[in-house]
Amino acid sequence: VTEHRLLAELRQAVGPAHVLTEAGQVEGYVVDWTRRYRGEAVAVVRPGDTAEVAAVVRACRAAAVALVPQGGNTGLVGGSVPRGGASAPPEGQVVLSTRRLDRLEPVDVAAAQVTAGAGVTLEALQGHARAAGLQVGLDLAARGSATVGGIAATNAGGERVLRYGVARAQVVGLEVVLADGTVVRRLSGLVKDNVGYDLAGLVVGSEGTLGVITAARLRLFPDPPSRAAALVGVASVGAAIDVLAALRTRLGGLEVAELMERTGLDLVRAHLALGQPLAGDHPAYLLVEAAGSTDQATALAEALAEVAAGGALDAVVAEGPGERARLWRYRDAHTEAIATLGIPLKLDVAVPLAVLPAFLDEVSELVAARPGVRAIAFGHLAEGNLHVNLLGVADADADQTTGEVLGLVAAHGGSISAEHGLGVAKAPWLALGRSAADVAALRAVKGALDPTATLNPGVIFPEP
Ligand code: FAD
Ligand code: MLT
Ligand code: ZN
Repeated sequence: VTEHRLLAELRQAVGPAHVLTEAGQVEGYVVDWTRRYRGEAVAVVRPGDTAEVAAVVRACRAAAVALVPQGGNTGLVGGSVPRGGASAPPEGQVVLSTRRLDRLEPVDVAAAQVTAGAGVTLEALQGHARAAGLQVGLDLAARGSATVGGIAATNAGGERVLRYGVARAQVVGLEVVLADGTVVRRLSGLVKDNVGYDLAGLVVGSEGTLGVITAARLRLFPDPPSRAAALVGVASVGAAIDVLAALRTRLGGLEVAELMERTGLDLVRAHLALGQPLAGDHPAYLLVEAAGSTDQATALAEALAEVAAGGALDAVVAEGPGERARLWRYRDAHTEAIATLGIPLKLDVAVPLAVLPAFLDEVSELVAARPGVRAIAFGHLAEGNLHVNLLGVADADADQTTGEVLGLVAAHGGSISAEHGLGVAKAPWLALGRSAADVAALRAVKGALDPTATLNPGVIFPEP
């Protein structure tokens, strides 16, 4: 099928206004958030409903042209933009943007669930839930652009996994267009539904390689009346882990435990012209937040006093939304602040808490052996999930450096990709993260559901 015929079919499917081909129109869709990944698109198409998505998928499959599903394009592993260079599929790629699939159904308060279109942003979903007196159990700094479909497709984690779990724990059902254009709809919201395999569960975390998610049914949670945050200065990551352990036993409502290092905090301070958050300067910082029906600021202050056990913790407790937002900016601005220094090598890893300090020491040694390279680590401490952002790594050294760090992770029984997915960035290390038997099973599933490799080729599975 020539490109011309495909374009005609796509225009037929979604209307000419939603088939973008001009360079100026497609720019924002063909380069990823980190600016490390860029490719050419035959077209960017913006279907308005499930039937249009199915028509687009069928047209691409018939034309043997690859399809790259895209939501908010905030993914950090190159999975949401067309592949460039040698790994680009021969017939090119079409980007399918879900942004117009932005329907939000009324919140089902009794079931504490809601159905949202794949293109709904996390921020819009959060506002919709709050208006109904409930809350979304997932949050991440890209909330303004990240979409429900992308969050499900990457099985995103974020900053409230400690209490509510990862995206998989929030997704009760999905509507998915499979690679042959058929639609699987599991949006009943029934938590008990053991009729055959959990197809929705299989598509969560599949990064656009098994189907295009068009809608999701999500759990919602009570929005407790009292919420307080605290920023604690600590002497080391090990000390932060000790504070976390002490708070876990004292605070039933603990939701957040985010680790920062002084390097990252100083970078954010310079980036946002923020003052020191605490009286002193510390090697590391722990941002915690608790929510519950009793006064959480008092509970947090008392728990921290007990943890200090007569010593002096340098900490500040924030109760009002403005005060809490001020503390959160130090954490949530890390990614954008780092991005102002260039394109980092982003390693999203998790290791068991017991070995996290030793792992980080080994990373520091590895970095010290590389002149001009520095590491900024931050992230979700309770899950042992840190974002090791390496700056100053030459492109020619990127694969070797990645391989060495991920090798350390694997040696510690960790995960080579804790929450961002593999995308194209980490696909080459799939065999480091999964056994041969496991990889064979994944390939069998991919081969069964997408035998023509139409959906996001190059993602998860390394190119032959
Ligand atoms: P996109 O980037 O558009 O796509 C991501 C992947 O999902 C691609 O492989 C794409 O093909 C696929 N996909 C997207 N939509 C669909 C769909 N409807 N159907 C099928 N496949 C689809 N991630 C975390 O897990 N935790 C964090 O704390 C976190 N913080 C971040 C902070 C910042 C500042 C930024 C920029 C990113 C952060 N991320 C984080 C990464 C990113 O926000 C998540 O991966 C998010 O889930 C991506 O959503 P998206 O809609 O932008 O997806
Ligand atoms: C975060 O937790 O902010 C992210 O996952 C982003 C990052 O890794 O930069
Ligand atoms: Zn993260």
